[in-house]
Amino acid sequence: MSRKNQTLGEFIIENQTSFKYTSGELSRLINSIRLAAKVVNHEVNKAGLVDILGAFGDTNIQGEDQQKLDVYANEKFIQTLTNRNIVCGIASEEEDHFIAINSQDENNQNKYVVLIDPLDGSSNIDVNVSVGTIFSVFRRVTPIGTPVTLEDFLQKGNQQVAAGYIIYGTSTMLVYTTGAGVNGFTLNPAIGAFYLSHPDMQFPEDGNIYSVNEGNYIHFPQGVKDYIKYCQMEEGNRPYTSRYIGSLVSDFHRNMIKGGIYIYPNTSKNPTGKLRLLYECNPMAFIAEQALGKASDGFTRILDLQPTELHQRVPFFCGSKIMVEEVEEFMQKVTV
Ligand code: AHG
Ligand code: MN
Ligand code: MN
Repeated sequence: MSRKNQTLGEFIIENQTSFKYTSGELSRLINSIRLAAKVVNHEVNKAGLVDILGAFGDTNIQGEDQQKLDVYANEKFIQTLTNRNIVCGIASEEEDHFIAINSQDENNQNKYVVLIDPLDGSSNIDVNVSVGTIFSVFRRVTPIGTPVTLEDFLQKGNQQVAAGYIIYGTSTMLVYTTGAGVNGFTLNPAIGAFYLSHPDMQFPEDGNIYSVNEGNYIHFPQGVKDYIKYCQMEEGNRPYTSRYIGSLVSDFHRNMIKGGIYIYPNTSKNPTGKLRLLYECNPMAFIAEQALGKASDGFTRILDLQPTELHQRVPFFCGSKIMVEEVEEFMQKVTV
């Protein structure tokens, strides 16, 4: 039984038997993520003091400037998972290709692959605004003891066995699901332990916050333009409040607690949207559904989309169930 103020370590042990497969491997994996989260948190927290702010001087495969913390967080998560010999493969937003971990070794019995956005919201690092880390876990589909292949990473989101995020905010939290609800743990920095502070997190069924980069309005599909005007109309509990941090993790976290919707649609600049299906949308969609919210690309459930490439982008509408259903109606009414 979970109880408030239980440590994450205790929670993982107590809940291990509720996983579908109970070899303890998934528990060790979550434990490794917990450790990497603490290491990255330590670096994020002193970001203004040490030479870790600013650009790294390179771009990632998606042509985006890498920040030093992007690179640092990427290295720490990969190192932690690799050194502990816990997974057989990792794919990261910051890596061109997936990484196979000792998977050619037939003694490697590991069955999980992890996909990560090591640092989400990196444009906020230099200005002391919350950033995050997002992770997604699948069982490999190819046989154990053989090298992992692309197929292991291009699975539909509905096959995820775990997903979560870390938010480096006013306090640092780790929020995750293994398919039995969503629980949030807050780091006590003095002790270095995460405590269960938000058991069984749920999106309010409806909300009054909409989060979208309205600067792109002119480039939005007509359905989104119409929905934004609907949000701003004086009627019932509207006009809604607009809140946009520019870091998906932070916008999602606030909306899950208060009730709201996050939107990153396709635009004329980004015709398939901006957010990455494998590192951002799938894990957040899994968490959203486990918290009784909803996630869609405007037409189809995110978790039912068949990925075709590692760095694929999709439009993303995610949050309180009623709000997502409303925006879907607007999207589906207009065909242009
Ligand atoms: P990342 O820092 O991992 O590249 O992700 C940034 C994402 C997301 O977190 C955020 O909501 C969105 O990009 C912001 O995009 P705009 O600046 O275009 O609004
Ligand atoms: Mn991101
Ligand atoms: Mn990122």
